[in-house]
Amino acid sequence: MTTSRYLTITEDLTLSRMGFGAMQLAGPGVWGPPRDRDEALAVLREVVALGITHLDTSDFYGPATVNELIREALHPYPENLRIVTKVGFRRGADRSWNPSATRAELISAVHENLDHLGLDALDVVNLRVADDDRSSLAERFTVLAELREQGLIRHLGLSNVGEEQLTEAQGIAPVVCVQNHYNLVHRADDALVDRCARDGVAFTSFFPLGGFSPLQSGVLDEIAAKVEATPQQVALAWLLRRSPTMLLIPGTSSVAHLRENVAAAEVELPEDAVAVLDGIAARAHSAP
Ligand SMILES: NC(=O)c1ccc[n+]([C@@H]2O[C@H](COP(=O)([O-])OP(=O)(O)OC[C@H]3O[C@@H](n4cnc5c(N)ncnc54)[C@H](OP(=O)(O)O)[C@@H]3O)[C@@H](O)[C@H]2O)c1
Repeated sequence: MTTSRYLTITEDLTLSRMGFGAMQLAGPGVWGPPRDRDEALAVLREVVALGITHLDTSDFYGPATVNELIREALHPYPENLRIVTKVGFRRGADRSWNPSATRAELISAVHENLDHLGLDALDVVNLRVADDDRSSLAERFTVLAELREQGLIRHLGLSNVGEEQLTEAQGIAPVVCVQNHYNLVHRADDALVDRCARDGVAFTSFFPLGGFSPLQSGVLDEIAAKVEATPQQVALAWLLRRSPTMLLIPGTSSVAHLRENVAAAEVELPEDAVAVLDGIAARAHSAP
């Protein structure tokens, strides 16, 4: 089975399915400047050189450091590059992550992202909802829908949401993407992945490699050895096959890892390997 390299969601929004998540470019604890600034800038330039057109970021990272690095490395931006950012939280001076989604807070977050990225309009803004917050997002999403009407945002997305919240938001304005925690082992959103495919909405997997808890599995290692790829490449290749509207934004602070991750799109997984990989989550959850 071959997987398509790009996903066209609307006439003016085509994203490479293998994207790049920029969170790892901040310093330790997603705070402050990167340990290796030159490498961080090199990673961003390599993202574009490798044909990636989907760059995921946020003012949460640093805060603002990562958006400023993106601007320094890539502005003026290539015509086909789409930058996806998120709002709804604000970092505290103690490095905490705090919900920040009143009308005034959302408006100022959008303006700050525009300023830090050096843009007149943001390609995609995701409303990031707090963990376990399954309350109505109508008020918050309406604010972003208004900013879209004003031309400050081109497209809207959601992050960390459930199916009902997606339905509610779709009743307010078009939703182009849902960005949730999903990978080979963390599959609580299986139904939502399929729903997004049915609706023509992109499902962007965050933590595709396990994030702060790297994916580890003997089965994954065995399959990687068989297909002559790395375990990380197999985990990414499995995600690309999982759904036609699945987008990936693996994060890395290293050019070598970036190249390895992008090459995962070339990895062919035989059907029997896919069947075994499909079972990893069930095995992980039934382990004592
Ligand atoms: N919407 C949300 O709430 C949310 C939450 C979290 C993240 N995100 C987005 O999702 C993106 C992805 O998440 P993430 O970066 O935390 O997690 P991830 O992509 O699952 O994993 C990143 C980790 O894997 C390592 N890594 C990357 N490529 C590797 C490779 N080929 N071999 C070995 N190790 C490798 C990285 O270390 P090295 O730097 O050493 O490569 C880093 O420690 C973020 O960058 C961010 O844009 C969104």
